[in-house]
Amino acid sequence: AAAVPGYPAPTEHTQKAYDPEDDFTAKWTRADARQIKAMSNPNAPSRANSMPEEYTMPTVPQDFPDMSNEQVWVWDSWTLTDGSSAQPSFKGWEVVFSLVADRKLGFDDRHTYAKLGYFYRKADVAERPKNGGWTYGGLVFPDGASGAIFEDQSFSHQTEWSGSTRIFDGNKLRIFYTAVAFYRNEDGSNRKPYDPRLVQSEGRIFADDKGVWLTGFRDQHDMLKADGEYYQTGAQNEFFNFRDPFTFEDPAHPGKTYMVFEGNSAFPRGERSCTEEDMGYAPGDPYAETADQAMDMGAHFQLANVGLAVAENAALTKWRFLPPILSANCVNDQTERPQIYIKDGKYYLFTITHRSTYAAGIDGPEGVYGFVGDGIRSDFQPVNRGSGLALGSPSNLNFAVGTPFAPDYNQHPGQFQAYSHYVMPGGLVQSFIDTIGTSDNFVRGGTLAPTVRVDINGNAVTVDRSYGKNGLGAWADIPSGYAHEIAPTP
Ligand code: FRU
Repeated sequence: AAAVPGYPAPTEHTQKAYDPEDDFTAKWTRADARQIKAMSNPNAPSRANSMPEEYTMPTVPQDFPDMSNEQVWVWDSWTLTDGSSAQPSFKGWEVVFSLVADRKLGFDDRHTYAKLGYFYRKADVAERPKNGGWTYGGLVFPDGASGAIFEDQSFSHQTEWSGSTRIFDGNKLRIFYTAVAFYRNEDGSNRKPYDPRLVQSEGRIFADDKGVWLTGFRDQHDMLKADGEYYQTGAQNEFFNFRDPFTFEDPAHPGKTYMVFEGNSAFPRGERSCTEEDMGYAPGDPYAETADQAMDMGAHFQLANVGLAVAENAALTKWRFLPPILSANCVNDQTERPQIYIKDGKYYLFTITHRSTYAAGIDGPEGVYGFVGDGIRSDFQPVNRGSGLALGSPSNLNFAVGTPFAPDYNQHPGQFQAYSHYVMPGGLVQSFIDTIGTSDNFVRGGTLAPTVRVDINGNAVTVDRSYGKNGLGAWADIPSGYAHEIAPTP
């Protein structure tokens, strides 16, 4: 692809598929990720969006309704999926699983207190209340169940992080999630590194005409723990990332079940591990950097990857690691909540990331990123001008990032409006509200944002501004029933 003046050309990626068992990891290179800054308007003034509108989530208003009726904070969410990632309803009910926390906690304290909760609402309702019309069903797991797997019970905090829920044989549910134990001192430092595990638990779902309830989820199966060979461990880096399992079946490999998850490349923290392939510049590119130049800036502290594993038994309790399908070495430290999405015979890997987790010299908005190839393991092509950015929150890359609790004075009010985007059948995208507003006037979220829609077309993913009202659909709208490839009518 031709380069934007002043910027390097993106890396050539073939999209070619490899066997899932092969030792090939696609690279989201620095040459690729620098295409994000290349499409940012350097003259966008204070509080304006500097990014192209077609890759930007429409701005969410501040007066959002709360889906939980003030009962809990809500963030990462997902629904029931079957093997093909379709979203069935259950006996006429739509069901959503969410990370929830007590509203007495500050919203930024939620991560060490997160529990899996669930909501339900009737499917196929034409007119819904503004907040989505969900009923909060309570917590999913019996008290103490998710902590039982840890050999060292001396944790200071024990919590449940993201994952996915599959429905089997009528009413059997398997929840794949991240059980986490923290071992912290009073001052918040680590007594020993935190311990995230990918865990599966089985239960049942029931419904009558009044609502939905769940039973079981007592036995917890510890599926995977970072191995230090493909996936970084706490011994290698106390700040490592290992979480967010998502399982699916690949039509190209019938009878197998795969899992993608968030990881980091398995190097000891601080090791100068980035290579020229991680840079990805064409020979002679005038805007190239060497791996040493990038690492002299400290870029090697950011080593995200997307992991792959394959199930070894029918109950999906035993899994084997395969090499990662994507790495972002010297590019970004977190590729979270990955999912595989199949459309028009192409495999899309979608994953979310933060502006603050980019490596030195690279910048991009909060949002969902996409990579397209011919199989679950491919030489993935980053979507949209070779950049990888699929749908970002409105942001101004000319100004500092700030934080959700202290937005930068010059930032667009939507920079932290939404996170944890999950792409659903029909290109619908749900996410949660983090912070909306400018530094002098902002509100914190803790509920789901309006659902938006993207068109997914070859290497392009663009926001559908004809969906809903100027591109914003209903609040907390996670509909069931749509098969892949079928766009719902708004
Ligand atoms: C994304 C995320 C997930 C994690 C959860 C913890 O918002 O960072 O990766 O499971 O939040 O709260």
